[in-house]
Amino acid sequence: MLLAQLSDPHVGALDSAMEVHFHTADNLARSLQWLHRRDPRPDAIAITGDLVDTGTVAEYQRLAEILAAVAVPVFLIPGNHDDRDHLRQVFTDHDYLPSSGFLCYQVELDSVLLVGLDTNIPGRPSGRLCRERLAWLDRCLSASADRPTIIMQHHPPFATGIRAMDRMGLEGQDELAQVLRRHDQVEAVICGHLHRAIAQRFAGTVALTSPSTTRQLDLDLRNPGELAIIAEPIACYLHLWRPETGLVSHLAYIDHEGELARTRMVVG
Ligand SMILES: [Fe+2]
Repeated sequence: MLLAQLSDPHVGALDSAMEVHFHTADNLARSLQWLHRRDPRPDAIAITGDLVDTGTVAEYQRLAEILAAVAVPVFLIPGNHDDRDHLRQVFTDHDYLPSSGFLCYQVELDSVLLVGLDTNIPGRPSGRLCRERLAWLDRCLSASADRPTIIMQHHPPFATGIRAMDRMGLEGQDELAQVLRRHDQVEAVICGHLHRAIAQRFAGTVALTSPSTTRQLDLDLRNPGELAIIAEPIACYLHLWRPETGLVSHLAYIDHEGELARTRMVVG
């Protein structure tokens, strides 16, 4: 089972500053086209939040137009830039999304269970996993104890050392760790929010954050540090699950047909 993870596309409205400067829609479409051309093609695509930039219906409609061309199942979760209700209002055909309450769900991808967790707090950049969401997760993991599981959520459950981002981190990290320690089938917790690839051992599993399809965050480990975006290449993860290896997560730069492809040499 090959799961592609894209993150933080921040699709902006036509003519918005976000769109004019960062070409969010084109970059997402280019990322999806690149995934389609891969051999093997991913079985599914997870997009880990900040789907759009300001949470308007118009932005979600623009996102839906881009995703309409995708030939494999796509699973969405909200980030801090998203609006839960507007997302739900536009993506009525994404029937894995609950019709009310938090956008938490589980879907089966072959033998792997994919669990989406909604960490959104309306109007705030930080995230939260409250008692209700964690109780739901605990029930969900208890009911599928033998099934390898990938959890997807926007806010990572660990401090990254990038202080400007850690200030908008996740409430409920310790409580999430307590739930995960009761269930050893969780192969990874895949996240967004950081616009960088970062990984940490977490509660007996691996937690990681994905780069963005739009713009990356500068690696600033100073204290207090600055929040700055930087034109590093857009990238994604390809999570490969096989019974004999478990989950292996490959960071992949998107669109090698350009500069990188010219440097490719077959050496074996
Ligand atoms: Fe983001």
